[in-house]
Amino acid sequence: MKKILAYLSPEKYASLFDLIVGHDAGADVIVPYCNITPEDVRDMVHSCIFTRHPDDLKNTAIFIGGHDVNLGEQMLDKAVEAFNELPDFFRVSVAVDPDGAYTTACGCAVKVKKAMEGNLQGKKAVILAGTGPVGQRVAVLLTKEGCDVTLTSRKKGRAEQICALMKEKYGADVKPMEVADDASTEKVVSDKDIVIATGPEGIQVLSKSIWSKFPQLKVLADVNAVPPAGIEGVGIQDDCKELEGRVAIGALAIGSLKMKVHLKLVEKLFEDNKTIFDLEEVYAIANEMA
Ligand SMILES: NC(=O)c1ccc[n+]([C@@H]2O[C@H](COP(=O)([O-])OP(=O)(O)OC[C@H]3O[C@@H](n4cnc5c(N)ncnc54)[C@H](OP(=O)(O)O)[C@@H]3O)[C@@H](O)[C@H]2O)c1
Repeated sequence: MKKILAYLSPEKYASLFDLIVGHDAGADVIVPYCNITPEDVRDMVHSCIFTRHPDDLKNTAIFIGGHDVNLGEQMLDKAVEAFNELPDFFRVSVAVDPDGAYTTACGCAVKVKKAMEGNLQGKKAVILAGTGPVGQRVAVLLTKEGCDVTLTSRKKGRAEQICALMKEKYGADVKPMEVADDASTEKVVSDKDIVIATGPEGIQVLSKSIWSKFPQLKVLADVNAVPPAGIEGVGIQDDCKELEGRVAIGALAIGSLKMKVHLKLVEKLFEDNKTIFDLEEVYAIANEMA
């Protein structure tokens, strides 16, 4: 029986990246649906679960993409609500990963944990330019690992709004901070053990002249693969590489683990018809893959 992946996105276009990875991971057919709202999800779930015998439903799965991780999670909640209205054999497995937010954040958190020799308890971390999909979920994961996490935005109000959302959804206590210039960047990294840059492509958010002033900084991790690096001096291929007494983690080291996690995630969607791959499940896959 063919493995069919329904790809739901609130955006105008389905992510070509996700479609290619979906095929590479073993989906025979991927059906992209765009401009989907959370309200549309119930009908799509019904179309998935009433078409095949329950014993065959592990060959149908749903992947939620798009750009907005919080909207993606609302769509996931709607899928779960739709399942809960029905007997429990009417299920398909569902994953959510808008803009690679889950898989990238999980890859990043696993690498950072490795750089800290497996112990993040009580460590101070800052996520620079952390209000995007990747930064938000890295913040949640590090908080769950026992880190004291600060998340920055160029606008205080936006940092506060995102941290409030993470508290509401995940119970994560993340400190919001406005960082808009060198002085505020210097202040926020001055007492941290870990800095993670999650800014957009080609934007440097931390210069070497700032990080080199603070010997207590142990880990510098950067998810941006497009030059210039998000953290000056961190090479994209650095994979827990020593850098002037620090541990550097570059975007390709994170990205290669992200790819493994993404492929395994789609593969696992077809192992049974009842798994909801939330952030915790994807983080478990990332820890396994590492
Ligand atoms: N390595 C990998 O495998 C991998 C996989 C996926 C994505 N990525 C990379 O991960 C990074 C984060 O992705 P994302 O989608 O979460 O990011 P994003 O939403 O594009 O950007 C993150 C935040 O950066 C801030 N920002 C925007 N323009 C800025 C500027 N000119 N200067 C400083 N800050 C700015 C914004 O925050 P405020 O407006 O709140 O300041 C924004 O919320 C990107 O570089 C992406 O390419 C890497």
